[in-house]
Amino acid sequence: MKIGMIVYSEQGHTLSVIEKLYDELAKSGHDPHISRITIQGEPQPNKFEIVNNPATGEYDALVFAAPVQAFSLNPVMKSYLEKLPSLENKPTVYITTKQLVFRWTGGNRAIRTMQQITQAKDAQPLGSSILIWGKNGPSEDEMTKAVNYLAQLFAN
Ligand SMILES: Cc1cc2nc3c(=O)[nH]c(=O)nc-3n(C[C@H](O)[C@H](O)[C@H](O)COP(=O)(O)O)c2cc1C
Repeated sequence: MKIGMIVYSEQGHTLSVIEKLYDELAKSGHDPHISRITIQGEPQPNKFEIVNNPATGEYDALVFAAPVQAFSLNPVMKSYLEKLPSLENKPTVYITTKQLVFRWTGGNRAIRTMQQITQAKDAQPLGSSILIWGKNGPSEDEMTKAVNYLAQLFAN
């Protein structure tokens, strides 16, 4: 499967999950591609313009990944997703990273927002992961578990 892995990341946490998932997908025989969304301006609602705006049309399946900010999906990913064209029944996986340990402090909401926006464009959600980024990030074991879980969603 040609998989578009579309990520917005400010400090590199979410990008590092995507890079690990990339390795796992490539190992499983997929053809993954990482595309970063980049902006000009401040990553706050109505204060930025998207500079690198990854296209989705060429992919068989998609991964969207972005951090939680202010108990919600980061506004850059939200704006990017809202402007996408139809996602044509593409199998889709969602990832978010966040600092606070409880998932209800924005993690569930960020996943739900990505899912709702893309489902309205006919994406077919396969699953999602929330990774907690404390001082040192998730443990190696947590990261491996999440990446293995996410990779096997594309197995069928
Ligand atoms: C402006 C801002 C707001 C944030 N708000 C939250 C929050 O509401 N809940 C939370 O758990 N983490 C919050 N965080 C922490 C980030 O979600 C966390 O560090 C994330 O892993 C950053 O990912 P990145 O390096 O890919 O940008 C916030 C970070 C920033 C910069």
